[in-house]
Amino acid sequence: MIKVDLSNTGLNALDKEFPNEEVKRIHKMIFDKTGAGSDFLGWLDWPESYDKKEYAQMQQTANELKDKIDYLVVIGIGGSYLGTRAADDMIRGLHPTNGVKLIYAGNTISSTYTAQLVDFLKDKNYGICVVSKSGTTTEPGIAFRVFEQELVKKVGEEKAKDLIVAVTDRSKGALKQLADNKGYATFTIPDDIGGRFSVLTPVGIFPLMVAGVNTDNIFKGAQQAMKDLQADDLTNPAYQYAVARNLLYRQGYKTEAFVSYEMQMQMVGEWWKQLFGESEGKDGKSLLPSSMIYTTDLHSLGQWVQQGTRGVMFETVVDIKKPTMDLEIPMDADNLDGLNYLKGKTFHEVNQTAEKGVLDAHWHDGKMPNIVLNFDSMDDVMFGYLVYWFERAVAMSAYILGVNPFDQPGVEIYKHNMFKLLGKPGVK
Ligand code: PA5
Repeated sequence: MIKVDLSNTGLNALDKEFPNEEVKRIHKMIFDKTGAGSDFLGWLDWPESYDKKEYAQMQQTANELKDKIDYLVVIGIGGSYLGTRAADDMIRGLHPTNGVKLIYAGNTISSTYTAQLVDFLKDKNYGICVVSKSGTTTEPGIAFRVFEQELVKKVGEEKAKDLIVAVTDRSKGALKQLADNKGYATFTIPDDIGGRFSVLTPVGIFPLMVAGVNTDNIFKGAQQAMKDLQADDLTNPAYQYAVARNLLYRQGYKTEAFVSYEMQMQMVGEWWKQLFGESEGKDGKSLLPSSMIYTTDLHSLGQWVQQGTRGVMFETVVDIKKPTMDLEIPMDADNLDGLNYLKGKTFHEVNQTAEKGVLDAHWHDGKMPNIVLNFDSMDDVMFGYLVYWFERAVAMSAYILGVNPFDQPGVEIYKHNMFKLLGKPGVK
């Protein structure tokens, strides 16, 4: 469950600031599939309608694969990567002590990163999950060439067949053809679900199954969110959030910072940035989505947040009630740092206290509006819940803004320039 607290934003009751009728109109437009980009609404009922047969096949393939490897190289970029990493970090934490470790490639063209990973994997047991809807994206494409060839060199063609899985388009993509030719297992990215909405499809679910994450629970969370978000008006918390951020945007705020006090939520922030940035950043409009981890960033950007330019940024703070783990602050006999007054308290207690103090400082002293989103925990159920919750929120928010939430024409422009400079055949 996610509760929206707007008491530190300066906004009045939302239905006094924004017409409920407009929310209802957009809700109807989303569910009737009559708005811009409505060919990409497959995610709306996906938590219930997902392909159960394919899900069972994925579980079987994942179970076989995870017994053979210690590392799974997940090759993908953007929507074919961020959700998996967000889920794995949030659910298992940053240093999981059991299960297959997920490592990422094809999310960069950095030579050093890629070459170091090749070296690192030389003496490791690893498999590959390559994820690309189009199958022709440059970054994962060139990375897959490298890691596939390395793996074949190491274990031979026959064994590599059992260690490589592709997640791609159902039939027309180049990667599907390549995987079929070479005998690799494949799973499907549905046509009507765009990259940034795809984490609950095989894109995220297959690698998470290999990692040993309970994906049934992820679906339970997403299904619960579907039930909780049935209202077509401002009693719907995802719509409250969508409306609140648009109202602040209309007041002149240009940046929204997604703030968490948990390191394992950093990649959720990255996933959220893509979801909102790619869905809304068009036609010269929209908030800039950014993210910070506190208290870490309070020791760098904190000064700016407290006293820098006013009226341009607001914070959306994710408050986590229950940490995945906790530990006590020990007593020190010498107490040279003067911190014995904290002995016996837990880190989470101190973290939550910091959060209270920061909220007060930023809103009351710093006049920085804070939307607070109350989360119960950081487990598998909560991950599924938040994914569906933010997907519904971004659809509403983008339609309020007046843009198509489901396209991303702007990302093609740099690609065209890059292809031209690289001499791609047919590109002028
Ligand atoms: O959201 C999107 O559409 C993008 O981020 C894509 O997921 C990303 O560009 C990767 O594309 P593909 O899966 O075709 O390799």
